[in-house]
Amino acid sequence: MTSAKISQVQGKRLIAPEMHEDPYAVYRELRDATPVLWDESLGSWVLTRYDDVAFVMNDPRFSSNRIAAAHASLRTDRYRPLLDVMSHRMSEVDEPDHTRLRSLVNKAFAHVAVEQWKPKIRQRVEELIDGFRETGRCEFVEDFAIPLPLLTILELVGVPAADRRQVKQWCDDFALVALNFYAYLDEEQAERGLSSIAEFREYLEGRIETLRRDPQDNLLSALIAVEQDGRRLSSDELLANTFLLLSAGNETSTCLLANGLLALLRHPAQMQQLRDDPSLVPQAVEEFLRFDSPVQYLGRLATADVELRSQVIRKGDLVLVVLAAANRDPRRFDDPDALNIRRSENHHLAFGHGRHFCVGAQFARLEARLAFEALLQQTSEIALDAASADELSHQDNYNIRRIKQLPLRLTFASS
Ligand code: HEM
Repeated sequence: MTSAKISQVQGKRLIAPEMHEDPYAVYRELRDATPVLWDESLGSWVLTRYDDVAFVMNDPRFSSNRIAAAHASLRTDRYRPLLDVMSHRMSEVDEPDHTRLRSLVNKAFAHVAVEQWKPKIRQRVEELIDGFRETGRCEFVEDFAIPLPLLTILELVGVPAADRRQVKQWCDDFALVALNFYAYLDEEQAERGLSSIAEFREYLEGRIETLRRDPQDNLLSALIAVEQDGRRLSSDELLANTFLLLSAGNETSTCLLANGLLALLRHPAQMQQLRDDPSLVPQAVEEFLRFDSPVQYLGRLATADVELRSQVIRKGDLVLVVLAAANRDPRRFDDPDALNIRRSENHHLAFGHGRHFCVGAQFARLEARLAFEALLQQTSEIALDAASADELSHQDNYNIRRIKQLPLRLTFASS
């Protein structure tokens, strides 16, 4: 056992511009050569093997509360309001608060049963696709992959139509910081996150007052009403977790739709198989999640010394578990760099693992299944718009991975 951290400075491997286009070659190298790597430049351990990632996510010695450590590293109080809100999100809290928050949110979710949303999502999918019929063209990200999950989650939570554009902007600003802060905090993004939190707080206080007087059939009303052992969500918890639901269920689902379709376009034989047998769609959606995972990595904080592969992760160390690298680990998946929509035993980690497993997984799956079923059923061909093929670059976001634009030409089945 090594008693000191082995400092293997390899440059900012996870945080380097070339990672935007293809992180998988770097993940492979890390997984094979240095699966438990101390990266001095990130001030964090980087874990890339499936078993290690699953182990850390399942072990209560690795805390989800990264706020205090992030705050200490900032050397300024300026972002305290932002970090304070984040600290009330269920994704940041450990036991016993996590179980309390999670069961309150689950109770609220039970009021708005996922299956009941099927016809609404299906209708929205149809409307979006109908919008492409006249020209036979669309920019898939802007015209479909963004609006479908966005409109659905805004409606599910209970944001009135007139406020949706503004609320999306606030959530996007917050999500950029909330998903990246423990590994990489961009000051300009943090500033925007800060003002968005203040404005959203004011907005939400008004909405809560309205819904208390006149409850409606939506998640926010349910969150206001739910109670467990005589305790309700405090106003900070309500704000933080509403923000969490809106942001967590938004950009991640956009990534799944956009990256999933891109994967099919790059693997035409798989696209054809899916057209020939639509019953494969649920399996294909799982494969998209594994193959090009929307959330590339998550952070945890060690609360005790833990030995892993002859290294000692010290109490207080930050650990990045790279879900996207684990999902391509050949020790777990056969031929992991191949897209295989018929893959069975696909226990990927794209929705996390253990007690923080994604609350919205069933919802995200349902939405993606309905979207791919309809897209393939209503078209006889989906092709990249050749003139714009060189626009296929990824967003400047190290953690949330998605293509910026996906211009398409569609041939409709009946035309
Ligand atoms: C493809 C879409 C999605 C992906 C890839 C995704 C991914 C994830 C991951 C990896 C986690 C674990 C975080 C951790 O362990 O620290 C998580 C948690 C969470 N997700 Fe999702 N998510 C998606 C969609 C959604 C949707 C649609 C919602 C809400 C309707 C949602 C709400 C949440 C919440 C509230 C948590 C925190 C759970 C907890 O900490 O106990 N997600 N998600």
